[in-house]
This record gives sequence, structure tokens and C-alpha cells, in this order.
Amino acid sequence: MEYNVVKYIHIITATVLFGTGMGTAFFMLMAYISKDVATLKQTTHHVILADWFFTTPAVIIQSITGIWLMNILHYPFNSVWFAGIIGLYVLVGLCWIPVVVIQYKLRTIALNVKNNDALPLQYHALMRWWISLGIPAFVSILIIYWLMIAKTGLGITLI
Ligand code: HEM
Repeated sequence: MEYNVVKYIHIITATVLFGTGMGTAFFMLMAYISKDVATLKQTTHHVILADWFFTTPAVIIQSITGIWLMNILHYPFNSVWFAGIIGLYVLVGLCWIPVVVIQYKLRTIALNVKNNDALPLQYHALMRWWISLGIPAFVSILIIYWLMIAKTGLGITLI
């Protein structure tokens, strides 16, 4: 029973993490392509809120339930599988934290631009960073999903 409940929460939060990431990235890109400053102001604000309301709790609950499952199943913490997950999870975090900072900067810039004016060059440069950091984070999450399901490297211990 405990295993099923913890795994249920783990998979729900994995879905929230991935779904919120995909969804917010899509709406940010659509707003950026529209070049409509009023839309960008609203969308960036909502993306920041979504990161606080959904992504942040999902990241925390994901790690807690992941470690909890490891203990229930007696999976080895010195396995290649676990090292791979933690490495990728840290990589996702290292991409995501600057993305959050960039989103705040994008919102501030957009708020200082009049609705019919063009966006400054700094805005486009920050968007390029935002996209460049999002791609490795997205690919890492896909690999984590694979590792979770296939358990590749679970039987190989490091030390
Ligand atoms: C600290 C990081 C994490 C740890 C320690 C961890 C650990 C675990 C463990 C021990 C299981 C149970 C496997 C089983 O029932 O045999 C599991 C299942 C699962 N995890 Fe994670 N996990 C982590 C992060 C993630 C992330 C980031 C995702 C995806 C975004 C994810 C998605 C899944 C899925 C889909 C399953 C179900 C796999 C299956 O039943 O075949 N996990 N995880």
C-alpha cells in the first residue's frame, strides 16, 4: 500500500514537472513569436507563477518520493542508475535556476516597454539563453524517464 501511494505521488509529480515545463515553454514561445508586448507581459508573469505553484513543489516532492521509493525497494544508492539520475537531476536544476532568473528579467524588460514599441536587443539575447538552457533540461528529463522505466545500470554498483 505504502509503495503504491508513494509511487503514485512520484509519477503524478513527474507528470506535473514535465507537463508544466512543456506547457510554459510553448506559451512563452508563442507569446515571443507574436511580438505583442502586452501578451509577453501577461504570459511571462503567468509562467513565473506556474514555476512557483507547480514546478517548485513538484521538484521537492519528486526528490522526497524518489528517495522514499529507493528505501522501500532497497535499491542501491551506489548504483550507476542512481548516479545517472542524480547527475541528470542536478543538470536540470542548473538549467532551470537561471531560466527562472531570466524570466524575471524578461518580465521587467517587457514591463518597461510601451505596448506598441519594439523589444530591446537585450530581450532577444535573454530569450536565446532561455531556449538554450531549456533544451538540455528537456532532453535530461526524457533520459530520466527512460532510466526510471528501463532501470538501466541499477544492477551495476560504483564502489
Ligand atoms: C531524486 C530523483 C529521483 C529518484 C531517486 C527516483 C527514484 C525512483 C524509484 C526508486 C522508482 C520506483 C521504481 C520501481 O517501482 O521499481 C521510481 C519510479 C518512477 N520515476 Fe523516479 N526518481 C527520481 C526522479 C524522477 C523524475 C525526475 C522523473 C520524471 C520526470 C521520474 C519518473 C518516474 C517514473 C515515471 C517512475 C515509474 C517507473 C516504473 O514504474 O517503471 N522520477 N523513481
